Amino acid sequence: MDSKKGRVCVTGGTGYVASWLVMRLLQNGYSVNTTVRTDHPDISYLKNLPNAPERLQIFNANLDKPETFTPAVKDCVGVFHLAHPMEWNENETEETKTKRAIGGLLGILQASLDSKTVKRFVYTSSASTVIFNASCKNLDTIDEESWTDFDFLRSLGLKGASYVITKTLAERTALEFSEKNGSSLEVVTLVPPFIHGPFLGDRCPNSVKASLALIFGDEEYYKYFARTSLVHVDDVARAHIHVFEYPKAKGRYICSAVGVTIDKLSEFLSTRYPEYRIPKPDSLKGIEPVEFSELSSRKLMETGFEFRCGLEEMFDGAIRSCKEKGLL
Ligand SMILES: NC(=O)c1ccc[n+]([C@@H]2O[C@H](COP(=O)([O-])OP(=O)(O)OC[C@H]3O[C@@H](n4cnc5c(N)ncnc54)[C@H](OP(=O)(O)O)[C@@H]3O)[C@@H](O)[C@H]2O)c1
Repeated sequence: MDSKKGRVCVTGGTGYVASWLVMRLLQNGYSVNTTVRTDHPDISYLKNLPNAPERLQIFNANLDKPETFTPAVKDCVGVFHLAHPMEWNENETEETKTKRAIGGLLGILQASLDSKTVKRFVYTSSASTVIFNASCKNLDTIDEESWTDFDFLRSLGLKGASYVITKTLAERTALEFSEKNGSSLEVVTLVPPFIHGPFLGDRCPNSVKASLALIFGDEEYYKYFARTSLVHVDDVARAHIHVFEYPKAKGRYICSAVGVTIDKLSEFLSTRYPEYRIPKPDSLKGIEPVEFSELSSRKLMETGFEFRCGLEEMFDGAIRSCKEKGLL
């Protein structure tokens, strides 16, 4: 039997953020259906979550076959859609990736609408859908009004541009679907920057690996941290549940906790973790920076949401998980 809070669906349950969200939903009293791809090697970290034996059901589904999500959505009161093609390499064309992301999303949205039980659909977007816009370049802070401009994005020649494009198109598609269907299906989107902190699976998530670049010495990521924003995975999971439960939630919500520059990060890490050899600010001067304006989470905070974690909790948690899994 379902718990009092009802049953919700989380897509892409094996993922970094989704697995943390599943854990928090179970703790908050929800019953959860989550989807995984059939070729996933080990999902014991999901099956072993507290309350999982009684309240977690795992379904197989793939964005390439949108109809495979229908059984997981059935009888749910809400859907959290996090599954997304995450490959940053350009082996596949932008068209193929877009078709997979949008086709899958539309299938899940339609299944949610048809279910007649799903009241709200929370789409996990990304700060990459707001930050690449020439008109924001000189702004100190940007908010939900901003949308990534594809011409400007392409002019930057960044690796992973197709990820940004698929995320932007997907978020727009989700919001338009909601507009077309009136109150039958509310769609709310959450817009986080780099998500950082502890993790449940055995693999170090890409965003954690990137955020730990100064510790791992991964120079290819340095330019993205010239000036950027971060948020703790637990705050992101709580924000998903908050915008799902907040009665008047509407549209997009930026969910960003801390703005930081690479110089500040270098100083912070050197002081807090003297055991690692962190590059000094002077040695970072030569990097070609990709600078992002700071993100305003004012709209989210005006709904009563509070961030609980800062850089300390993000890095302590990430380092602890890496050590537990023998990755550091
Ligand atoms: N981490 C961040 O910093 C960040 C920031 C902003 C937004 N986001 C968004 O948050 C969501 C989760 O990101 P994450 O960092 O948790 O990434 P992740 O760990 O790579 O998780 C991605 C999930 O999507 C699933 N997936 C990929 N392709 C699929 C397909 N064709 N069919 C079904 N499932 C598929 C993956 O399944 P497999 O395990 O089988 O590969 C995995 O469960 C994404 O929508 C991402 O865009 C993340």
